[in-house]
Order: sequence, then C-alpha cells, then structure tokens
Amino acid sequence: MAKDKLWGGRFNAPTNEFVEQFNASIDVDGRMFREDIAGSRAHARMLGQQGILSDDDVQQILSGLNDIEKAIEAGEIPFTVALEDVHMNIEARLTEKIGDAGKRLHTARSRNDQVTTDTRLFLRRRVDEMQVRIHTLQGVLVNLARSHADTIMPGFTHLQTAQPVTLGHHLLAYVEMLARDSGRFADARARMNQCPLGSAALAGTSFPIDRAYTAKKLGFDAPCANSLDAVSDRDFVLELLAACSICAVHLSRLSEEVILWMSAQFRFIDLPDAFCTGSSIMPQKKNPDMPELVRGKTGGIIGGLVAMLCTVKALPLAYNKDMQEDKGAVFDAFDQLEGCLRVFADMLPGMQVNKERMRNAAASGFSTATDLADALVRAGIPFREAHEIVGRSVAWCIEHDIELHQMDAAACAAIDHRLKKDMTAKLSVEACVAARNHIGGTAPEQVRAQCDAWKNKLEAHDA
Ligand code: ARG
Repeated sequence: MAKDKLWGGRFNAPTNEFVEQFNASIDVDGRMFREDIAGSRAHARMLGQQGILSDDDVQQILSGLNDIEKAIEAGEIPFTVALEDVHMNIEARLTEKIGDAGKRLHTARSRNDQVTTDTRLFLRRRVDEMQVRIHTLQGVLVNLARSHADTIMPGFTHLQTAQPVTLGHHLLAYVEMLARDSGRFADARARMNQCPLGSAALAGTSFPIDRAYTAKKLGFDAPCANSLDAVSDRDFVLELLAACSICAVHLSRLSEEVILWMSAQFRFIDLPDAFCTGSSIMPQKKNPDMPELVRGKTGGIIGGLVAMLCTVKALPLAYNKDMQEDKGAVFDAFDQLEGCLRVFADMLPGMQVNKERMRNAAASGFSTATDLADALVRAGIPFREAHEIVGRSVAWCIEHDIELHQMDAAACAAIDHRLKKDMTAKLSVEACVAARNHIGGTAPEQVRAQCDAWKNKLEAHDA
C-alpha cells in the first residue's frame, strides 16, 4: 500500500507492483549503508546541537543507528524494494526500533541532499582505494622496468619498426600514464569534497541548521555554497567516470600490446599459465584472456561515462529521478577498473620475456637508420640530405637483402661518397639505445635513474 510508504500521506491507491521494483535503487545503493548512517549521525548531532531535536531524541537515534549498522553488517537486515532505496530502508528500520525519535531524523533534510552526500562519501573512499591500486601497479611496473632496463625491443610508430627502445623505458611510459590517472582521481576528489547536507530538497531549510558542523563532521572541506547546485550537481560522477575511462583506456592499450607480444608472430613474452586459458577445441592454444578482458571492459566503463553525460545533459535543476541511474554507472566503473588494475598487478610479475626475440626484432626493419643519418649529420651533412642518403641506402639493402651495418665500403661508395663504412659498421641496437642518454630518453642509464626516482616517489606516497 502507498499508505505504508514514508511519503504515503497524499496517496490513495497502492503502488503498482512492477513500479515498486522499477522505481527501487536499493540493489545498487544498499552498498552505501555505512555512508548513509554516517550522514544521519552527523545530521542528528547537528540537529541536537542546534536545539532542533532534544538530547534524548539524538541519543536514541545514535544508538539505534549503531545497532542498525551492526545488524546490516551481520546480514540481519534484509533490504526491501518496497522501501525503494538505502535511505528509506534505514530510516524505516530506525523508526521501527525507536519510534518517534526516528521519525524526527528527517527534519531539515531531504533524500535529495542525503543521496548526494552519501554518494560523495562512498566515492571518496573508493577513490582512496583506487589510488592504492594504481600505486601498486605502478610499483610492479617499476620493478619490471628495472629488470629490463637493458632489454632491447623494437619501438614502433604506425606499428612499423621505428627505432630500438628498452623494454624498461616502454614500461615506464605506463607508469607516467598511471601517475596522471592518479592525479585525475585526486583532482576530482578535491572538487567533490563539499557537503550538500542542509540543501534539503533544493532550496535549503527553514530550520536554524549549522552546515559547517555537518560538513566538518563528515570530513568535507566546506558546505556546498548553493543549495540548488548541491542537489543537482553530478559533475563528480562525470569526472570520476572520465578518470576511470581514461585509466581503463591506458590499461587497454597495455593489454593490446601484451596480446600482440604474446602472439606466435611476435613471441616477445609469455604470460603465466595462471592468467591464461586454453581452447576447448584447439589443444595448442594458450589465450591471453586477462588482457583481452581488460581491453573488453574498457568499452563498458566508457559506456558508463557516455550514459551519464547523456543523462545529465537534458536535466533541468534541481533533482530529477533520472539521476538515480548515476550510481549504477559509476559503481560499476569503479568495480571493473579496480579489477583491471588488480589483475595486471598480479599478472605482470610472472611475465616471461624472450629477450633474444625482442633484440633480434629490434635489429631488423632498419631500425638504426636514424642513427646512420645522425652520423652523416655529425660529418657536416645537412639532415635533409643525410635522410635522403640513408633512404637510398635502405632501398639498396632491401634489394641486396642485407642490413645497414653489413654495407661494405664499396656499397657505401655506390650510394654517396660521404657515406663511410665506419659509419655503417658502428650501427647496433645497443649503441642506438645507449646514445639516447638524456632526460626522457630510452638509454638503460636513464631507465635506471627513472626507476629510482619512481621508487622514491611511490615510497613517499607522492606518485
Ligand atoms: N534513490 C534516489 C536516488 O538514488 C534517492 C533520491 C530520491 N529523491 C527523490 N526526490 N525521489 O537518486
């Protein structure tokens, strides 16, 4: 019966049975019970301090909420869709336990300020947990980069062999991306850390509340400055979904590389058995399912961002029920991304690297051509001319099926009199990487220095 609802006063007919389910969000927002209770505690204490509730009521509310929290944790309180969401499930339970004092808790409050307070509190915690996951993966990548500071692999552009790089350098590129990801979460957290409580339904409340008190009690930096904005704003959900999406995109790129590297054509790496599966028909198969799934889940995470952008874009101020969809999207993005970060952090330490295959691949495809052009430039030839000479050398080598470093004096002379055998003979992938020894370069020495710097930052929790 609608009469049984907390809002049932003006209703005559019961809620349609399917509407009861369709309207409910408890399956998604039930996870915020701790935050809902924390918000109610702060609100009740504030009401008491301001003389809006009696001390006795406040005491009953606080002890009732404590019992309810324990009971929910123990699985003793089954939530019901008839009570729609976590806020009304808890409030109804409180009133059932303590009577009138429970009915007074919602004074000067609306579910509109309550839900966004709870969501901010919940996501604040999840952001902190996400940071730990990101830093853990960064640590794993840094360790791996250190062990592969000297491992040479082909660097690609257009997925064509470009120049040799070190695997350590390549892995550290992802450490940089993850640092920016972590920064995006931190930025979003700082912006969302304002307290909506006291905004009530949309306009504020006629009671003499103390918004600074509740904000402080709940660890917010300040109360939200505009009540309409406070209850309408879902920027924090959008920002966090964007942060999740970008981080997932980074992991998806890494996934794509790992999948390529494990293919029979590359054979650069092998992933541990524990993170792969076989085929039900092809006995030889060992499939990189984990990176494939991470790549696949990225679509869903981005989907959540797009869904919420579309949801919010047409909403007039202030609260609209559409907003209820926010939690499913953002909670799912957090769950999925945490899983992706975790599976990579667990999987990568067991990755086998075939250094010889990588080095040989790096040495093919004329990857040292730029270094030959650089040698000509050092001999006083303008770069554009040097580029042209080396281009002709490459064409000559392709025709004669040899590598640049195999060009003898006669071959050099046939191309250009300024091209010398000692220039081609010196070409090696080791020399190429070692030569790029400046900040941000691929040289083993730089990689080791970067690993040290990252290790210090991660240990100091400054990543
Ligand atoms: N379950 C709702 C949500 O998640 C809570 C807010 C409901 N407010 C309202 N006026 N119906 O958005």
